[in-house]
Parts: sequence; C-alpha cells; structure tokens
Amino acid sequence: MPMPPDEPKSPEQVQQWIEKHAREHDRFAHVAAKYAGHRATHGCYDVYPYPNGSLLGTLAATHRAQRILEVGCGLGYSALWFAYGGGPGTVVESIERDPEHAAIAIDHFKAEGLGERIKVLAGLGATVLPTLKDTYDLAYNPPAY
Ligand SMILES: C[S@@+](CC[C@H](N)C(=O)[O-])C[C@H]1O[C@@H](n2cnc3c(N)ncnc32)[C@H](O)[C@@H]1O
Ligand SMILES: [Zn+2]
Repeated sequence: MPMPPDEPKSPEQVQQWIEKHAREHDRFAHVAAKYAGHRATHGCYDVYPYPNGSLLGTLAATHRAQRILEVGCGLGYSALWFAYGGGPGTVVESIERDPEHAAIAIDHFKAEGLGERIKVLAGLGATVLPTLKDTYDLAYNPPAY
C-alpha cells in the first residue's frame, strides 16, 4: 500500500505531526502560542510549553486531584490545564524563579478566569520546596530540571 504523501517519515516529523494535531484541540493553545514571542523579547531560552496540556488536565481529573504542585510555572500553560482539568475544587500551586515569567503567568490565569485557583510561589524550587506544608495529590516537574 503506498504511503500517503503527507505521512510523517522521520521521528522529527512524527513529533511535529503530534504537536500540530494536539494544538488543534488545545483549549489553551492561544497561551502556548505566546511563548516563542516571549523568548525573543525577554532573551530567555528555557520557557516553552510541552504539547501535553490535555494529558495534564486528564491526569488532574482522573486523580480527582484537589491540590496540585508544579515546579517551573513558565508562562502558565500547564498550570492552566491542571486547574481546568481538576475542576472547580482544584487548587494549583506553581513554583517559578523568574519574576517576569511569574507576572505573565498570573495575567494568563486571571484572563482565563482561573486566577483564584492558581497560585504562583516565587523562588527557586530548592528554596520553596522545603517550606511547603501538608500533602499534594499530584506533583509535576517537567523534564530537564
Ligand atoms: C520549560 S518552562 C516550564 C513550562 C511550564 N510548565 C509551562 O507550561 O509554561 C521552565 C520554567 O521553569 C522555571 N525554572 C527552571 N528551573 C527552576 C527552578 N529550579 N525553580 C523554579 N523555577 C524554575 C524557568 O524560569 C521557566 O519559567
Ligand atoms: Zn522569559
């Protein structure tokens, strides 16, 4: 059987195909779309959204997670998905070391109507983590740190 002309043929092309189709059904794609422009103006390199937002939302929902912790808030994409997926009773706390990223993320949370349920904890993970009290239902630390 001949391969369709637009069939991805390399691992990189498969990755691009997955990202494209995942974003088409991503309710926070407009937030994810802002990251590249931010990196260009801020001059940072380490803030980018993974194309797994709906999976994070599903994890929050299926775990019935009421309290979620994230290390590395970035511009808020993944925290939005956790809060949305968890539903009205879910609170997300997200640690972020860069004040500019934290401020942009907070604006995103407010704009999406989720500002009351997502809190940014300012500082380095290594500093903030030992100060946290009680337990979390879900903790997320994206790869690479
Ligand atoms: C790849 S982005 C995180 C993506 C984020 N989950 C999102 O969806 O936008 C990395 C972020 O983690 C922050 N970061 C990296 N190392 C950190 C650390 N040790 N403590 C706190 N924040 C950290 C960076 O400043 C950056 O904003
Ligand atoms: Zn930045």
